[in-house]
Amino acid sequence: MHFLVLRRVFPPALLAMNHHGIASMGLAIPSRYLDVRDLADLRGVDPNKYTKGLGCHEMALCAEGEDVVTLAAAAARRAIERWGGPLSDLGLIAVGTETAKDMSRPLSAFVAEDLGLDGHVRSYEVKHACYGGTLALRQALEWRASGASGPKAALVIASDVALYAPKDPGEPTQGAGAVAMIVAEPRIAEVDLRSEAYAKPVFDFWRPVGESFPKVDGPLSLECYNLGAERTFAALAGDRPVADLVGEFEALCFHVPFPKMVKKAVMHLGAANGWDEPTTAGLFETKVMPTMEDNRRVGNAYTASLWISVARALRGLQAGQRIAAYSYGSGFGAELLTLTAGKDAAAAAWAADLEADLAARRRLSADDYQAWRGA
Ligand code: CAA
Repeated sequence: MHFLVLRRVFPPALLAMNHHGIASMGLAIPSRYLDVRDLADLRGVDPNKYTKGLGCHEMALCAEGEDVVTLAAAAARRAIERWGGPLSDLGLIAVGTETAKDMSRPLSAFVAEDLGLDGHVRSYEVKHACYGGTLALRQALEWRASGASGPKAALVIASDVALYAPKDPGEPTQGAGAVAMIVAEPRIAEVDLRSEAYAKPVFDFWRPVGESFPKVDGPLSLECYNLGAERTFAALAGDRPVADLVGEFEALCFHVPFPKMVKKAVMHLGAANGWDEPTTAGLFETKVMPTMEDNRRVGNAYTASLWISVARALRGLQAGQRIAAYSYGSGFGAELLTLTAGKDAAAAAWAADLEADLAARRRLSADDYQAWRGA
């Protein structure tokens, strides 16, 4: 079994005409972190369970004064600065999150207030668990493509703080972070208008009103995540073998609850398509694993997780090279997107954000963490 390498390389000038996508990007993570081996010591668990069993390394944690809004605003400021346009050129701000601060007031209003963004702008929050950021991006893209935007650009942000109850089995998968994107001309990447969605109403992960921590049916979430991947890849491949579709991409990005969950989905995709195990494992190692380098240091940032992986995968690509992005949100909704690198991908200006934040953050001890969580 071989994956055909079918690269479609477009000249940059052609990419910019009547195409829409990511013009600029900014990322932000909080200033504290815990090594999962310290959490393992605290909870009396073999650290290999977290590092090898789940594939996690570190989890980003908020310090006093940091939250979903400060992360979103920090990422947005970085994206806006690189974009270079005035705030008045933004006609839409949409924030995907499952860390809502209010049942009525959208998170976008908190962020817009912080940025000083008001006037002729559509402002709203999108909720669909970890899928909300992708939905916000799709809406912005389709708003641009419809012509309703006029010349205006959109500011799309995926921002979350993922915390489980202390001692919950999901505790080693915690994390936090934000990715902001200016949706306009595809300087960094064109997001192809065609995508494939798949949804099924289930309770695999949910947080009832008034509760601080989610409830999770872990095995069901894994089953739904795998099903979404199988169905969306098959739908996008159409009459072609899925292996041919996969062969078009330099990288395959996934929503990353924890890296082992992604590996299981890739192995499931291989089994569903009759690939032999070494081939699928090779695909995972070469095209998927490298995209999760930053996720392993940030943890699950819910809506931002997929886009942290996409930001990593786009680094250094030449214009015309393509990647795929599989979005999953519990409840459940899934969507497979494809992106084509633009002329600014090679320079990867946004890479400086995580490099700076990772270098500056402070490692908490197990005692610090226990004192903070109260357990
Ligand atoms: N050394 C190496 N590996 C070990 C080990 C050791 N000492 N001990 C255990 N392991 C391995 C296990 O074999 C297992 O690996 P496999 O699955 O490959 O067999 C792995 O470590 C985990 O072990 P368990 O399944 O026993 O772990 P657990 O019961 O404590 O569950 C969990 C941990 C898998 C994280 C579980 O809590 C879970 O499923 N959590 C939720 C998953 C999730 O995030 N779902 C949502 C997905 S989508 C999302 O992000 C939500 C959204 O839309 C907002």
